[in-house]
Amino acid sequence: MQVVILPSSESIGDYAADVILRGVAERPSTGHMNTGHMNYVLGVATGSSPLPIYEALERRWVPELAAISAFALDEYVGLPYSHPESYHSVIDREVTTRLRLDPSKVHVPDGFADDPVAACLAYETAIQDAGGIDLQILGIGGSGHIGFNEPTSSFSSRTRIKTLTPETRRDNARFFSSPDEVPLHCMTQGLGTILDARKVLLVATGEKKAAAVARAVEGPLTSMCPGSALQLHPDATVLLDEAAAAELTLTDYYRFVFDNRPEWQR
Ligand code: F6R
Repeated sequence: MQVVILPSSESIGDYAADVILRGVAERPSTGHMNTGHMNYVLGVATGSSPLPIYEALERRWVPELAAISAFALDEYVGLPYSHPESYHSVIDREVTTRLRLDPSKVHVPDGFADDPVAACLAYETAIQDAGGIDLQILGIGGSGHIGFNEPTSSFSSRTRIKTLTPETRRDNARFFSSPDEVPLHCMTQGLGTILDARKVLLVATGEKKAAAVARAVEGPLTSMCPGSALQLHPDATVLLDEAAAAELTLTDYYRFVFDNRPEWQR
């Protein structure tokens, strides 16, 4: 993993926006080698961490962005799409509207489906049909989850129903009027689905994330910290502020690598 420590969440947003805009600009000339699909496919996360990225992309909007497709990581089960905290609503507000995307190209798992198992399978198929995800944005939970893959998730899991941990429900209670309102279940891309993305950008800010970040980046590969699965990814970058980087041990080395990165990586 490449660890990049930046001074603020604004600079993290800008750094990520640079990577995404470069990818979008390169897409027309490269395309997908195997599938012929040409649209850039962005994997989007909800929660607070990625908001500076969407704000930066909104500020620096270019017409090519309007052509991309997007796939969300997860959704609560049983929350109507119109609920302001359903990820359908959040993605619509924070991503589709800000980036002026075509709503028909923005996909969110269907946590309100009559047949959730079929809906999970359909989501995997839709990602495949779009040519796979070019870049997946991720946050990390205090439990070490990425997407809503809570501890003990299989590294080869695909989109499926999971039960949220009490810790995640407590963390997300800030978005609801009472903790009991936070749904028990979610539909989430699996760790295997996430690992299939061609590039991954994990964003974490604030001291509350320091322990989970250290376990994911420097700890052993373990389903007890699902974020550690990213150690298996060939192109994963972790964007941190100082507080989220505080429990890492190789910080000086990460800074040295970043300061001495070759021209083509800048
Ligand atoms: C959101 C998601 C979660 C969040 C994580 C961190 O779609 O999949 O993994 O990224 O819970 O949330 P924040 O950024 O709100 O701290």
